[in-house]
Amino acid sequence: MNENRGAFPVDRPVEALLRDHNTVRKLADTYANSQNMDVKKQAAAQILQLLETHAKLEESVFYPAVRDVDASMVGHFEQEHQKADDLLESLKGMSMDDPQSEQMLRQLIDMTMHHIQEEEGQFFPKLEQAGMDMTPIGLQMQAFEANLVHAQAQSSQQGARPQ
Ligand SMILES: [Fe+2]
Ligand SMILES: [Fe+2]
Repeated sequence: MNENRGAFPVDRPVEALLRDHNTVRKLADTYANSQNMDVKKQAAAQILQLLETHAKLEESVFYPAVRDVDASMVGHFEQEHQKADDLLESLKGMSMDDPQSEQMLRQLIDMTMHHIQEEEGQFFPKLEQAGMDMTPIGLQMQAFEANLVHAQAQSSQQGARPQ
């Protein structure tokens, strides 16, 4: 996923978040509808990786930067993230062949669909109306994401088997 993100839209960082949301929706659709176990597992792994990056980006940079637009709504989002992060952390340590992991992943996907719907339907329009200069936030988000993706690539290289 990270490879098909394209350039980060620094002056419109919400677009980067929307792009992630739509990628998660597509992956969740593939996960739910494919009969092929390899395809399902691949989609599941991609969902976990994308959600982890996306959640960290919002928690560390986006939410603090936009909190003043609606502090109670942002606080609510952070609570939802906390629950999803806990599930995600447990899932990372489990095999996708474990029947319990399927149930947990479905729960995580349901929570995520509800959450991104709220962000898009209730928060992003408010943020737009607030008329903030988004470029400084976009630059911070771009830098944070680049570091995160770099760190992930390094740790997956360390875990990779020699060719
Ligand atoms: Fe979020
Ligand atoms: Fe989001």
